Amino acid sequence: MHVFAHRGFSGLYPENTMLAFQKAVEAGSYGIELDVHESKDGQLVIIHDENLIRTTGRDVLVSDLKLSELVKIKASKTKDDAFDATIPSFEEYCDFISKTNLVTNVEIKTNNTWYPDIERKTLEMVRKYNIEDKIIISSFNWISVMRAKQICPTIKCGFLYYENKHINLALEAKEAGIEFMHPDYKLLDDFTVKQCKQNKIGLNVWTVNSEEAMQQMIKYNVNSVISNYPDMCLRLLKENHGNS
Ligand code: G3P
Ligand code: CA
Repeated sequence: MHVFAHRGFSGLYPENTMLAFQKAVEAGSYGIELDVHESKDGQLVIIHDENLIRTTGRDVLVSDLKLSELVKIKASKTKDDAFDATIPSFEEYCDFISKTNLVTNVEIKTNNTWYPDIERKTLEMVRKYNIEDKIIISSFNWISVMRAKQICPTIKCGFLYYENKHINLALEAKEAGIEFMHPDYKLLDDFTVKQCKQNKIGLNVWTVNSEEAMQQMIKYNVNSVISNYPDMCLRLLKENHGNS
């Protein structure tokens, strides 16, 4: 089972910053999950929300500022401004991660805002840094996922979901040529796990932040957990391996 650091090592460091990504690498994570939006001038930036208020304290939309403005803004509000970390560009991240072996789960945040061509821009950046084989594209907007797959059929993709609107999720992924399902861990049940395994659809589950949830995911033997606390997940995996 693999461990992805959710928004980097966001349990202890400001989410979606280079500091959180660096700390995720140091913690021994297999991969990093992050969120991409587009700036006013159409550049890719790493941030979770459409509005900067929660992570920076500034009440402004990502899409209302240029990249050159965004990357100067301190983004450690979620950690009481205790860290000197700013909003990163996706390019800065790709340059950084291309020097490691980590896998990146890029979540394209088109569930609330429509960014025309964000999928192509994301894949072009990934190609520029030659990290296509270390990327999983996901989105709650399954059209975005399908677009990414259409643009680059070899890129691995996952359908994100937080409610079970459909029953045969694994069959839908298989039919669409999508490699992974990315459910909220609370939705996972024996039926979905079995159906995914039978149809060779991987399960990357979020956001596994408690020991109890992690133990449950170990029992289900999912492909990956995505956690704010990669250190805790790695420790439990190690202990579990020692007991087996
Ligand atoms: O990709 C898993 C998870 O990050 C999805 O939810 O809101 O944390 O982006 P959210
Ligand atoms: Ca995310």
